[in-house]
Amino acid sequence: MPPGTKSVPQHIAIIMDGNGRWAKAQGLARIKGHEEGARAARECVEACAELKVEYLTLYAFSAENWQRPKSEVFALMRLLEKFLKEKTPELIEQNVRLQAIGRLTDLPPACQQQLHKSIEATANNTGVTLILALSYGGRLEIIDGIKSLLRAIELGHIDKGMIDVAMFSKHLYTRYYPDPDLLIRTSGEMRLSNFLLWQLSYTEMYVTQKLWPDFTKKDLFAAVEEYGRRQRRYGAVE
Ligand code: IPE
Ligand code: IPE
Ligand code: MG
Repeated sequence: MPPGTKSVPQHIAIIMDGNGRWAKAQGLARIKGHEEGARAARECVEACAELKVEYLTLYAFSAENWQRPKSEVFALMRLLEKFLKEKTPELIEQNVRLQAIGRLTDLPPACQQQLHKSIEATANNTGVTLILALSYGGRLEIIDGIKSLLRAIELGHIDKGMIDVAMFSKHLYTRYYPDPDLLIRTSGEMRLSNFLLWQLSYTEMYVTQKLWPDFTKKDLFAAVEEYGRRQRRYGAVE
């Protein structure tokens, strides 16, 4: 925890970008970048535990990332499965609760199985909630939310006149979590890439040029420090 940090975000969301460029710069295959990226993700979970951040959402694989070459997609899925298998004991030890959002049934069966195993194994942990966004797309999530609302209306659970922001939020993948306070994107890209479109409406953004595999605990602390200096107004006057 950087000493003197006043306000720690309750929820940090990260677009972990730049693995491929990192690998290219080292003359390595893209998958090596993803492997290093997994290490950086692990470090960030630790940093969040130290800061007592309650929720950390990591954009690990987007709905659009399926368009990448089959070999890269396959390698990423293998890496995810391996990472979960190897790291679950550590997550338990560090009291991390694992969750996932996205169209999880799109993942290969072995990945889904390992994911559910890890989620179950960490379900009673009370420290950081680590939410992996997998096969996640913000627009798809909103569509799924609308379908879920329509179902609830059909079943007579709700009346359409009752629909408001709070109720719609309860039909999204993120219904159990507060909106992110801080969004970090690495590798300098100034875009959301279909990440948490609904939830980020009043989130503070922090973009760093660093490529994701180079992102360290210190960088996360720096982002949190900067967050502490922001003034959140939500459209109101001070
Ligand atoms: C982010 O790194 C990881 C995923 C999207 C899975 P990239 O693979 O997008 O790396 P760049 O942007 O090509 O450098
Ligand atoms: C966003 O990164 C998705 C993840 C980090 C998982 P991308 O590399 O896919 O985004 P674009 O293509 O640069 O917008
Ligand atoms: Mg990228």
